[in-house]
Amino acid sequence: MTESNETQPSDQTSASGKPASADSNLQAPVTATEDIGVGTVIHRDDSSPGNSKVNTSESAIGPIPVVQFDRVTKTYNAGQPNAFTAIKDVSFVVQNKPDQGEFIGILGPSGCGKSTILKLIAGLEPQHPATEGSVKVLGKEVMGPGADRGMVFQEYTSFDHRTVLDNITFGLECHGVPRKLREEQGRHWIEQVGLDVAADQHKYPHELSGGMRQRVAIARSLILRPRVILMDEPFGALDPQTRLNMQDLLVGLWKQVQATVFFVTHSIEEAVYLGDRVHVLSSSPGTIAREVQVEPPNRPAAEMQREQKFQDTVYYLRDLIAAEEALKQAGVG
Ligand SMILES: Nc1ncnc2c1ncn2[C@@H]1O[C@H](COP(=O)(O)OP(=O)(O)OP(=O)(O)O)[C@@H](O)[C@H]1O
Ligand SMILES: [Mg+2]
Repeated sequence: MTESNETQPSDQTSASGKPASADSNLQAPVTATEDIGVGTVIHRDDSSPGNSKVNTSESAIGPIPVVQFDRVTKTYNAGQPNAFTAIKDVSFVVQNKPDQGEFIGILGPSGCGKSTILKLIAGLEPQHPATEGSVKVLGKEVMGPGADRGMVFQEYTSFDHRTVLDNITFGLECHGVPRKLREEQGRHWIEQVGLDVAADQHKYPHELSGGMRQRVAIARSLILRPRVILMDEPFGALDPQTRLNMQDLLVGLWKQVQATVFFVTHSIEEAVYLGDRVHVLSSSPGTIAREVQVEPPNRPAAEMQREQKFQDTVYYLRDLIAAEEALKQAGVG
């Protein structure tokens, strides 16, 4: 996740203090920016000629993007009477920021296609493959799951018959890493996610709280050092205090692993706190309705979330999401 000094965003200036067009991750030209307190709304003209295809050649835009969606549509049960289009014409590019990574919060009404987008990046069926358009990770078309992408789900996904240590080292085991080495790394990651090696390494998932299980899930993903981390409401089932603790844990870990993170949440506060930018999706079929650049999480969650300007951004996004839903219900969006 990126860090930047606190700035006062102004017209044509992003929260990182650079011109919005210079540090933007989307290819469509910035047509306007809008200061909303701690963040900047970036308006783009996706419809202008030349933007029907996102240009990815290195010479044109620099390094190969981490993730790129080009006019992606997903229709479940395509060609059948129960065909359903979950997302339509979704295009975005997340550039590779070496030694930095980026944190993208994804917000939107239930059913708008957030999990569909994440699983298309992960290469998981039946979301993968897209019905139309192209999904690329590090410049290559996604053909299925890969070690360059890790996923953490809301539902607890540990293997019930494996201990904490064996769960965390599962991926290394699959890659043939010798037991001694993988267990050393596993214990390191048990500590990194705030669990106790002596007390917890031999426990089974049923002996853990929800927060502890999500710590195991995070460690299991991060131990493989994925370039892209996909998190689908990972803290949705946790109580508010545990959730704040987990947000701070995540921020600390991200500064170490420097991956690009896609984080789906229903909590606007969580997206604004964790995100470098927030993508707001419209109702089904989902499209990216708005992109908002927000201040990075450079102080503890409980502290930052009490600040007025933080709350102003949250209210702004809440109104935006409500307006998107109203537009769709009126058949305008
Ligand atoms: N395997 C599937 N087959 C058919 N339709 C599906 C399938 N998976 C998802 N859908 C539909 O696609 C739409 C988008 O689903 P998705 O799970 O991506 O939404 P979401 O934004 O993650 O929702 P939530 O916030 O409730 O998790 C929904 O209407 C859902 O019913
Ligand atoms: Mg979902």
